Amino acid sequence: MCGIIGIISHNNVQHMLVQALKTMEYRGYDSAGICMLEDAASGLKNVKEKGKLQHLQQALKQQPLTGNLGIGHTRWATHGKPEVRNAHPHQTATLAIVHNGIIENHQALRTELQQTGANFLSDTDSEVIPWLWQQQRTQFSNEKEAFLHTLNTLKGAYAIAGLQAHDPDKLWFARRGSPLLLARGSSGVFVASDALAVAGEADEVMYLQEGEWGWTTLEDTYVFDVQGKSVALKWQAMPHMVSATDKGDYAHYMLKEIHEQPRVYRDILHAYTDVSGSVHFPQADFIHNDTLPKRIIMVACGTSYHAALTARYWLERYLKVPVEVDVASEFRYRDPVIGDHTWLITLSQSGETADTLEALRLFKRRTPHNKTLAFCNVPHSSLVRESDGLIELYAGPEIGVASTKAYTAQLMALALFSLQLAQQNQALDTKEVQQHIQALQYAADHVDVLLQESHQFDMLTQIFSHAHGALFLGRGPCYPLALEGALKLKEISYLHAEGYAAGEMKHGPIALVDKNLPVVVLALRQYHLDKVISNLHEVQARGAKIILITDLPKSECPQDVDAIVNIPEGDFFSAPLIASIPLQFLSYNVARSKGTDVDQPRNLAKSVTVE
Ligand code: G6P
Repeated sequence: MCGIIGIISHNNVQHMLVQALKTMEYRGYDSAGICMLEDAASGLKNVKEKGKLQHLQQALKQQPLTGNLGIGHTRWATHGKPEVRNAHPHQTATLAIVHNGIIENHQALRTELQQTGANFLSDTDSEVIPWLWQQQRTQFSNEKEAFLHTLNTLKGAYAIAGLQAHDPDKLWFARRGSPLLLARGSSGVFVASDALAVAGEADEVMYLQEGEWGWTTLEDTYVFDVQGKSVALKWQAMPHMVSATDKGDYAHYMLKEIHEQPRVYRDILHAYTDVSGSVHFPQADFIHNDTLPKRIIMVACGTSYHAALTARYWLERYLKVPVEVDVASEFRYRDPVIGDHTWLITLSQSGETADTLEALRLFKRRTPHNKTLAFCNVPHSSLVRESDGLIELYAGPEIGVASTKAYTAQLMALALFSLQLAQQNQALDTKEVQQHIQALQYAADHVDVLLQESHQFDMLTQIFSHAHGALFLGRGPCYPLALEGALKLKEISYLHAEGYAAGEMKHGPIALVDKNLPVVVLALRQYHLDKVISNLHEVQARGAKIILITDLPKSECPQDVDAIVNIPEGDFFSAPLIASIPLQFLSYNVARSKGTDVDQPRNLAKSVTVE
């Protein structure tokens, strides 16, 4: 959610700024801008454009900038519409900033600053930062004091990069509540929201902690804590990062990422299981060494929340302890009762989702003795750094905003985690665990076949041509799968869709049923098949168009449904990994038929770093 970059270099930084923004466009694509400084005499040069980064790139072709110091921003609007005047960088005559986060006291600050002559041009909360900083510069002759006072006056969350027009040698930065890192390499020193942004340029990285701030020149970097005390610099080797900017021959990143799933399944199995079939999580030793918890709380947002809901069925069946699953934005504000011997599991593709991070922090504050475990795709993310253990997802960078491979990677990792705990709890013996792991291996093979035959999903699209919405039904682990199928469809095709527990459908949504409401029924042999088929008949009798996704052979399927998607049979753990595939293709194909922007759907961002 908003990507920020700052660079000080031996060379012109325009190209590097734009390249960095390109890798962070998944964080927001409402508008983009850069501000550069050549020397103290030339003044700040700012170019901003509404819409995607390519518009900024076009503008920079007409109007290239020069300078070895610069900041850049790709925006996901919080305050103020996506217009050029609301795009970052925001500046006064003497300084400029880019900001990710929300300044909660912006209204009061704006009023105060206006009284002292500030001339606001945007509707954003962020624009108070340069005016406040400029005002503090007039009050404190010491520029360190001025910046610290600026930060201490701000309420809310921020990652900031900034520069001052009189000083082409200094790049300023601050982090509270939003992710930010420093990086350096032969071409210069960087401030960025995401390590991916500097992957080709930096050799070393330093993740800023909450409240840290400072400035850097090309030679020296200074970092301070909230009180202004110096903090020791902790440079570490830049993690190896796979470049993800290439779509290959695929029309969209989403399609590419759907096709990567068998590889991801196999990588996870390879990372966490061995030939004897045992499961080991090397970055979360406490799972193996501690006594089993009396309770598990799982917290996540969006698609990751749906993965957690599925795991509840697996864990409760074999661990026999209560497993509570909550969306992070509710958990963090509902004054949750936690208790002892409880593990918190957070799930996040990005590891930077603000609500999930805050839920983790609340849990740690309340019960510091309890253990915390992150299922995460980004091993150096804030969530991972603040958790006791990590189960890495090995999905590789996911660029499509609608999550596909990171979701099924979560399911795969959660299945292995559930099997490990089941074995420790003696609910499953080694042989049974081995059999389930084999079924998970087969799932990768089955998905390979489904991907080769993906043309069979094309026929579903036409059922949606006059649809006013869609309903997805399932029971057991297929219920969260139905939620995910509906979320995927609405995210990228903008069609209203609801996922429902099939047994609950009679208590309301059945009123929506007519011939223009496609109903996707997930009927798998593992999960209450007969009951789901009865629910199918109930909606069918009321004229709904039925799409049946099932592992039943054709001969055993109910007749007269509008479409049947046959998928291979999985076991209790592997079935959702297989059934996810037709749901992903369904949303992808419907979105394409509607001509929407599949990889960057309207209003969404991949990494939601504000609450
Ligand atoms: C956003 C994304 C979703 C994602 C959710 C949680 O809403 O668009 O695809 O599921 O954030 O993100 P996380 O990185 O925590 O899994």
